[in-house]
Amino acid sequence: MKTTVVAVVGCGRIANNAHFPALTKLDNVRIKYACDLILEKAVAAKEKFPKIEEVITDYKVALADPEVEAVFVLTPNFAHYTVTMDALRAGKHVMCEKPVTVSYELSCEMAAEADKQGKILNIGVCNRYHKSVELLEELNRQGEFGKIYHIYCSFRAFRSIPGLGGAFTDKAQSGGGALIDWGVHFLDLILYILGDAKLKNVTCDAYSEMAKDMKSYKYKSMWAEDTKDIENGVNDVDDFITGYIRTDKASISFNGAWAQNLDKGEMFIDFLGDKKGARLTYGGQFEVTDGETLETTKTEHEIPNMYLCEDADFFNSIESGVKNKNNIDNILESMKLLDYLYKSAEIGKEIQL
Ligand SMILES: NC(=O)c1ccc[n+]([C@@H]2O[C@H](COP(=O)([O-])OP(=O)(O)OC[C@H]3O[C@@H](n4cnc5c(N)ncnc54)[C@H](O)[C@@H]3O)[C@@H](O)[C@H]2O)c1
Repeated sequence: MKTTVVAVVGCGRIANNAHFPALTKLDNVRIKYACDLILEKAVAAKEKFPKIEEVITDYKVALADPEVEAVFVLTPNFAHYTVTMDALRAGKHVMCEKPVTVSYELSCEMAAEADKQGKILNIGVCNRYHKSVELLEELNRQGEFGKIYHIYCSFRAFRSIPGLGGAFTDKAQSGGGALIDWGVHFLDLILYILGDAKLKNVTCDAYSEMAKDMKSYKYKSMWAEDTKDIENGVNDVDDFITGYIRTDKASISFNGAWAQNLDKGEMFIDFLGDKKGARLTYGGQFEVTDGETLETTKTEHEIPNMYLCEDADFFNSIESGVKNKNNIDNILESMKLLDYLYKSAEIGKEIQL
């Protein structure tokens, strides 16, 4: 098996919780560089993951190294575009975290650059490698559900806006709030399971009600708290989002909340078919209800680490030269969907695609 030398740019949460552990487990990978603008974060990662060889603060050092073949872009959303474009132009393959970047237009430029350079550019929509999602996709392809006519999803949490005032809630840095951060996973996996659904029209409303006054915002939990900037930062993104999407295969409706005044968190997707229906508990198992027997069956399969599967398949794709399911070409439709949903919320009207 060929060994690939990688550089990781951004040593924050997703690097420490998902990709460094996965890259550590993969024998065919050398982690030559861990890069972060904040040196201490790269140093802390090296202490935790001894497979890291060097720490740097300027990713261009890694791009100039001919040994480096692949770059992991694990920075806040707005930086995905610049770091990825620089890496592709330096002749590196790229695995970039979700969302692709802050807009569909820039996402298309990234896809075009990858093709121009003849490099693999994958996006971290990791749920496509979740065992339950893979099984549901297979069941739908085999016609188990009959015609799936509607999908409903809910991703709602009780007062848990991330890093208030920091990169997550500043539209210029994030591209949006609950929709682009959580909704991206839900809507992408729905389009993936439906398979090649053509978008017809969308309508959406976005709200930012919970932390209009950042200083008096009360919260149950604040993940990404290290990035918060309540004194001087910005909060101009959606903390609640609702929308309706028509495709040539099925309609989709959704509600999402980083924060709401209801102590009821829910994270699920319902697939309604004319033969069978399924409820997927996000990140977990699913249950199928058969319209003929009226019975409901719950799955109990093993759930392998999706980040490990995602990263391993990125290296397979580099080696074979074959674009896999997380290649940017297969993610552009969900990026387009997010863009149009935000546009619809902005103008307060349905948009025909
Ligand atoms: N796939 C998933 O399930 C998942 C989960 C969480 C986050 N994410 C995505 O991962 C990305 C990072 O999120 P996070 O929660 O790890 O954020 P984070 O703030 O914890 O980490 C980002 C790191 O990038 C560093 N950085 C920023 N610009 C840089 C640059 N130019 N060069 C080097 N380092 C730079 C920051 O200093 C920071 O340490 C986001 O795009 C997010 O949407 C994906």
